[in-house]
Amino acid sequence: MLIGVSLGPGDPDLLTYKAADALRQAEKVFVPGEMAADLVRPYSRPEMLKFPMISDKKKLEEIWAKNADRVASYASRTKTAFACIGDVNTFSTFSHLRRVLKERHPSIEVETIPGVGTIPALASKFGVDLSTSFQVTDGSPVNTMIRMKAVRPAEVAAELREEGFDEFILGTRLYTPEEKIIRGDMPERSDYFSVLYARRRRE
Ligand SMILES: C[S@@+](CC[C@H](N)C(=O)[O-])C[C@H]1O[C@@H](n2cnc3c(N)ncnc32)[C@H](O)[C@@H]1O
Repeated sequence: MLIGVSLGPGDPDLLTYKAADALRQAEKVFVPGEMAADLVRPYSRPEMLKFPMISDKKKLEEIWAKNADRVASYASRTKTAFACIGDVNTFSTFSHLRRVLKERHPSIEVETIPGVGTIPALASKFGVDLSTSFQVTDGSPVNTMIRMKAVRPAEVAAELREEGFDEFILGTRLYTPEEKIIRGDMPERSDYFSVLYARRRRE
């Protein structure tokens, strides 16, 4: 099994208890860089995988495949972690690795642990609030929308469908004992602690 672990933005105190436990319990921990390795070292001896930023697509695919196979050689038989700076699912090397792993080793189970990403980190450090809608991009097309306070999910989904969004997931009281996750058809009403994820699969 592979567990994607979020390390937070750099301060070791911003790593969660859950992340620390996962790093301690993993028999093998991989990291994509030196900053991640430093944050992991109090818990484990990480192995660094290189993900060079080159434009040769063929070479790049070979490197990704090699790294995925290396991770799979452990994850197929033992508890294995891949730890990333910030949140492991946000603009992360892990997401791409997970896709390649799924293609090449579909039987490996993958889970992730959320963490403090760049967005909450910058709000605290800059002393700014993010209390109304904001946009985050890395320059790629915006094909994901997250709606907070999703108390009328069906209505929001209908609006977003008009804009080409075609995949919807609603989460209520996530990471609590009352957690509920609904995919596909959205209900008319939902609890205040609800968040709606929408994706446009076609551009
Ligand atoms: C590959 S992305 C990783 C994002 C990370 N997974 C997250 O949740 O924020 C790398 C980019 O994240 C941002 N980043 C990550 N850690 C940062 C930090 N401590 N301070 C400022 N920016 C950071 C920078 O924009 C950097 O180019």
